[in-house]
Amino acid sequence: MGAPVALDKWSPESWRLKPILQVPDYPDATALRDVEDKLATFPPLVFAGEARDLKKSLAGIAAGNGFLLQGGDCAESFLEHRADNIRDFFRVFLQMAVVLTYAGGQPVVKVGRIAGQFAKPRSSPTEKKDGQELPSYRGDIINGPDFTPEARIPDPNRQIEAYRQSAATLNLIRAFASGGYADLERVHQWNMGFVQDSPQGHRYQELADRIEETMGFMRACGITSENTPQLRVTNFYTSHEALLLGYEEALTRRDSTSGDWYATSGHMIWIGDRTRQPDHAHIEFCRGIKNPIGLKCGPSLDADGLLRLIDLLNPKDEAGRLTLICRFGFDKVESHLPKLIRAVKKAGRNVLWSCDPMHGNTISAATGYKTRPFDRILKESLSFFEVHRAEGTHAGGIHIEMTGQNVTECTGGATAISDQDLSDRYHTHCDPRLNADQALELAFLIAEQLKKERAADAHPQARTLIA
Ligand code: PEP
Ligand code: CO
Repeated sequence: MGAPVALDKWSPESWRLKPILQVPDYPDATALRDVEDKLATFPPLVFAGEARDLKKSLAGIAAGNGFLLQGGDCAESFLEHRADNIRDFFRVFLQMAVVLTYAGGQPVVKVGRIAGQFAKPRSSPTEKKDGQELPSYRGDIINGPDFTPEARIPDPNRQIEAYRQSAATLNLIRAFASGGYADLERVHQWNMGFVQDSPQGHRYQELADRIEETMGFMRACGITSENTPQLRVTNFYTSHEALLLGYEEALTRRDSTSGDWYATSGHMIWIGDRTRQPDHAHIEFCRGIKNPIGLKCGPSLDADGLLRLIDLLNPKDEAGRLTLICRFGFDKVESHLPKLIRAVKKAGRNVLWSCDPMHGNTISAATGYKTRPFDRILKESLSFFEVHRAEGTHAGGIHIEMTGQNVTECTGGATAISDQDLSDRYHTHCDPRLNADQALELAFLIAEQLKKERAADAHPQARTLIA
């Protein structure tokens, strides 16, 4: 194990004294400070009590009961900030949650990559096109996606726009979640748009028929969505990568009831695979806030490194505090994950294991597009479940990049999107996302795995047979 990291007193700005990666080069430091000061006076986007509720739900999953569904855009965009985009995402997310709850038999905790997912880590600080080299696009909260020198200059005012957009998105989501849209009586109406006529749409239709029948039975028993809020209202939480720490700091507030510090930019925030150095700024910031935290775990993380990060991020071993989001690549799960699971088990640490089957599976198609083959996404997810079955631990969640739109960004799936199809509707500003049909297909496949896990729990002697 490496040398212990000196833990100085934490404050919302203590990260500024640490080394930092992936930081934008703002040309005007005073303008940046002015924006951060202004943001610090704005209302919080989420409340500490909500983050605590989410932590409680995640603690249940870490203990073996339930499943975390986390997903949304790779990067939200200013240009695509429209009600129909938010609605279409929310709708397919509800469909996925229903599939996982009903077919998988597990309570599902819904966490969107939404209402704040604007800042992107990049593998290269510059990008080349037609002989011209420009700074990379770092997400709409920092600079613009157009390939021009002007667009690529980091502009602090974009942080204000990101805050405002997050607030509006969150407002609509809160309305959808509690204003009747998520009522289980509407389970058929979530099957809309292009999904309705797709193979997964038909499969969903059958499941919705069964749910409707169950609802009819319950109605006859006197349980309706009018008298039972659990049927009418759903919990939905927000999350994003806490990459742009000046923005995060400005929205970090002391909770008046507990005296603790919370990031109020979203309910859950995560640390990216490129910025998880134990003695650097991102870990420093995240260790001091009380929200549930995600940690991306890629192939370069070994067991000792992980234990050190767990000590830093969750020294008191609070249940629900830490979600390990594994993203190895479809062919690396079996060689990496078991070691990490065993080390965490041996150390007796409380974590929720989730699988990001997207970020280790990005390739360049022959046509030049960045894509992710659906069968690799599926393979990584299935391997994640297999390893957990073999280790006797709970495969607790999935973390995906997806949209409610009919895009062609990831190849494969039931509609067999080919390399040649990618150019049809390739809209992402950053990484390729599953379209609604592919996302639903993945949910059905995962539901089968959850069913297997339940069967193995009910009959432990059958575990080896099932695995
Ligand atoms: C992401 O989730 O968009 C991301 C950049 O992931 P990672 O840090 O795992 O590469
Ligand atoms: Co991404």
